[in-house]
Amino acid sequence: MLIMNSYRLRGQSILIVSTLAILCGWSASPLPTEAAASLAPTPVMGWNSWNKFGCEVSDKLIREMAEAMVSSGMKAAGYQYVNIDDCWQVSRAADGTIVADAERFPNGIKALADYVHGQGLKLGIYTDAGRMTCQKRPGSFEHEFQDAKTYASWGVDYVKIDWCFAEGLEPEVQYAKFRDALARSGRPIVFSICNWGVKAPWRWGPKTGNLWRTTGDINDTYDRMSVIGFSQNGLEQFAGPGHWNDPDMLEVGNGGMNREEYRTHLALWAILAAPLLAGNDLRTMTPETRDLLTNAEVIAVDQDAKGIQGHRVWEEGLLEAWVKPLADGSQVVALFNRTEAPMKMSLDARWVGAPASARLRDLLDHRDLGTIKDGYAADVPQHGVVLVKVSP
Ligand code: GAL
Repeated sequence: MLIMNSYRLRGQSILIVSTLAILCGWSASPLPTEAAASLAPTPVMGWNSWNKFGCEVSDKLIREMAEAMVSSGMKAAGYQYVNIDDCWQVSRAADGTIVADAERFPNGIKALADYVHGQGLKLGIYTDAGRMTCQKRPGSFEHEFQDAKTYASWGVDYVKIDWCFAEGLEPEVQYAKFRDALARSGRPIVFSICNWGVKAPWRWGPKTGNLWRTTGDINDTYDRMSVIGFSQNGLEQFAGPGHWNDPDMLEVGNGGMNREEYRTHLALWAILAAPLLAGNDLRTMTPETRDLLTNAEVIAVDQDAKGIQGHRVWEEGLLEAWVKPLADGSQVVALFNRTEAPMKMSLDARWVGAPASARLRDLLDHRDLGTIKDGYAADVPQHGVVLVKVSP
């Protein structure tokens, strides 16, 4: 009886306190998902080791890349995360703690994180929701909470979680475990889901992580990049501030595509409001690569505060037009020529419903193009793009 009374009393006081809180306008501490969403209000920007270096990661490489991110102007352009992909980890200690490769990372990950933070940047790391990573390093299965705590204690700001060796596991269940583990880690950590689109992560991703891969891996060819990029149409309804479709990292500057193809790659990723994770060697990139990766007018499209992922508004064979509305009421039109020859393409005012007085600007080449009144036709190179901002 006494016990029942004290329960009742506690129930009543909770009720009183919460009623008071509502009346006084006290806000409850944000739910983990709300807090997590605020970590990526616009698509994440940074660099990742995988596309160029594969397993050849080290303390030295990551430090040099952080330095190059600053000295090249990438940091000033908005790039922020320096992410170590697979192969930094070798084993687990007796108590289960994940162990970094002591030869490649002789100072440990914490010292590396401190160094990267000292450059005004953030550090990302990689693991796998299954039993092993794709390169057969220890996975995080059944170590989710322990690993999240370890990363937080090292000062890690971003975790990419892969899906190799996950036979019999459900991505929605496993990734939710990580979400909860990261929320309880004591540190804000961006959560990148990397399960290649298995079981439609765009359906459960928004309540689970900040970004989710929508396809298999990119590689440094026009064919693969364009198959991935142009297949994103229709997924726009699932993306928005805090949670983004991820068509994989950039290959810009890795040498397998020509100038027009890399311009298409970056412009398409910007139209898609995709994460911009450079995958090239920032220490040795050419001025042409640097200028493209730091093109402020293109980055502004990707990073627009409204966070609307663009979609295709017109296609005729391999000619496509995509539109992305921006926060200031303007719209960006991309005219893509996927054919094997240069083509003339016209911008149709009906795609954007713009008045005759709307101004046009070429964002890749920073040129004003007049008003939409007289129409606009561009010569678009083979595999190329013209990116036009239409401002009312
Ligand atoms: C793949 C992933 C790549 C890279 C690689 C590392 O599954 O999609 O981005 O992380 O594993 O082994």
